[in-house]
Amino acid sequence: MDLQGRHILLALGGGIACYKAAELCRLLVKEGASVQVVMTEGAQAFITPLTMQALSGRPVVTSLWDTAQPNAMAHINLSREADAILIAPASADTLARLAQGRADDLLSLLCLARQRDRVPLLIAPAMNREMWLHPATQRNLAQVAADGAVLLGVGNGPQACGETGDGRMLEPADLRDDLVAQLQPKRLVGQSVLVTAGPTFEPIDPVRGLTNRSSGKMGFAIARAAAEAGADVTLVAGPVHLPTPRGVRRIDVQSAQQMHDAVLAGLPQRGVFIACAAVADWRPAQVAGQKIKKAEGAAPPSLSFVENPDILAAVAALAQSQSGALYCVGFAAESQDLLANAQAKRVRKAVPLLAANIGPDTFGRDDNALLLVDEHGTLSLPQGRKIDLARQLVAEIARRITREHA
Ligand code: C5P
Repeated sequence: MDLQGRHILLALGGGIACYKAAELCRLLVKEGASVQVVMTEGAQAFITPLTMQALSGRPVVTSLWDTAQPNAMAHINLSREADAILIAPASADTLARLAQGRADDLLSLLCLARQRDRVPLLIAPAMNREMWLHPATQRNLAQVAADGAVLLGVGNGPQACGETGDGRMLEPADLRDDLVAQLQPKRLVGQSVLVTAGPTFEPIDPVRGLTNRSSGKMGFAIARAAAEAGADVTLVAGPVHLPTPRGVRRIDVQSAQQMHDAVLAGLPQRGVFIACAAVADWRPAQVAGQKIKKAEGAAPPSLSFVENPDILAAVAALAQSQSGALYCVGFAAESQDLLANAQAKRVRKAVPLLAANIGPDTFGRDDNALLLVDEHGTLSLPQGRKIDLARQLVAEIARRITREHA
């Protein structure tokens, strides 16, 4: 679970988006967080403290004069025990109060009292589009950001008032992902990372083609982990049915040739290239313009193949000519002899780091195990969720590139 052992202070300002805060609270608890809810008077007009208490499993704190706190200092206690404070929804009034550093209600006061170097403050605004666009709100947003808060959103679309535009609170799952990301170590800040993921699809005719069983989950997890670590991430994805990780730029392709072209066009001068895609080695030599028809008594069609470009080898060669400013990581999906195959493949592809796994054991699954191979030896990352392995891989890459660029 991504928030295991974390204590999150979830603060609700007034607004119809409070109904989404109930779902957000559930998602945070489901990720393993303990959640302490604080509600303003306005929030309580939209949703009851009882609802939030039932979902968080803790009494909601609503007043700065809360005598239930033994020392009568709710603002200090609440802000000291939190690993992060998330205000969702943050109304226009809440933003104005934060911008001014007000201390006459519990939410503003505990934000003012928080230890800014230790407890991140995340703000998910929600309001009518005219309120959002008003210069006063924009001024307040700029001020709270300058004071160190992290702004999440806003979303755009139809609003409860019947108007359409900017000002919707982000969806609960997005806010959860942003919070999880905020709490990850920022190991790749300033780095550009390009990841390939998924299978390729090599057409035979307009309705048929050849592909493989890669689900793209490992590559998508790596793109997510790199973005969480603060990198600028581009994901070149073959045909998969996966949502784009938050903050990741995605380019969808079908064939190996398209993936090759997209990678070379999007490759950063400096940074990291991670080739996680299961790229087809060959493609049909001819693609029929129309569907190949089955004719009575005729022999089945035969296919002949031509070789696809090796994207990783091409990028690795480029990286070598650029004297190491681009760090290349390859993958090997094997079915046996993991270590020997991985070591041989690392040398053949001329990459500094290769991550090997047993393909049939992991295709389509949410967990995996990786064997990392570099010039110094091997490191086994034992069975775990793909996102956890991806975060470990990102940490290993970060360690190596900092060493190389030191
Ligand atoms: O040689 P093999 O296909 O097993 O190598 C796997 C590694 O090479 C993976 O990192 C994969 O993404 C990359 N690859 C590639 N282009 C190809 C074939 C493989 O980038 N045409």
